[in-house]
Amino acid sequence: MAAAEISSNAGVPQDGARPLHVAVVMDGNGRWAKQRGLPRPLGHRAGVEALRRTVSAAPKLGIGWLTVFGFSTENWSRPAAEVAELMALPKRYFESDLARLEREGVRVRVIGRREGLSDELVRLLEDAQARTAHNTVFNLNIAFNYGSQTDIADAARRFAEDVAAGRRQPSEMNEAVFAGLLATADSPPPDLIVRPSGEQRLSNFLLWEAAYAELVFQDVLWPDYGQEHLEAALAEFAARDRRYGAIASDDVLAAG
Ligand code: FPP
Repeated sequence: MAAAEISSNAGVPQDGARPLHVAVVMDGNGRWAKQRGLPRPLGHRAGVEALRRTVSAAPKLGIGWLTVFGFSTENWSRPAAEVAELMALPKRYFESDLARLEREGVRVRVIGRREGLSDELVRLLEDAQARTAHNTVFNLNIAFNYGSQTDIADAARRFAEDVAAGRRQPSEMNEAVFAGLLATADSPPPDLIVRPSGEQRLSNFLLWEAAYAELVFQDVLWPDYGQEHLEAALAEFAARDRRYGAIASDDVLAAG
């Protein structure tokens, strides 16, 4: 990349140091609302605005894939009124944004179990996927009713069923085959997983896929998240030394 281009993109890491796939745990909506004396649903609605800002910023920063955690299999244990609000968020988001996503070349995939969701919501999610399936400019994965342990268990069960039915051999199993059975089979593994709100855990998000992801934790609540926070996460990513279990090339001679 030309120096002029780098300086005109202050804070954006240079090519090669940019993550292709960024995943985000959109955390802190409840605390954001509480800090303002607002009901929690308003925090979630502000979270949808932050999602809109992030989806708009990501392609400008050279990101090709964005996976966001919208509703976890554990979120069912929240009060019914909050679950109802969370279930309404995809409709709120797609009503305002789907036409633009479709027009701007964003391919939407919704990963997670459809069981437990209303028929109307399943239709909405499937419609968003179908309407954008031909798009290639940018990829948005929304994890909804998603839990990584459930996804891994489902994948193992499907493979076991295929073995029991004689369609596959146990010896066929390897890392690539297993990855191909997961809900993220169509996506490259995340290079960077970001969690705002100060919490430092994965919370059952992309456990298999995170094997070599860099993790960045940020002290901002998700509803306040914007391009500057994504740029800060990318700058931290660019400063990391990704070795995938090997050693740095500078150290190869010293290793003898
Ligand atoms: C966690 O914050 C956030 C959620 C459970 C929901 C996140 C969803 C969105 C931001 C919008 C999703 C949009 C679509 C299209 C699905 P929390 O409520 O646990 O916050 P807290 O830890 O501060 O209480």
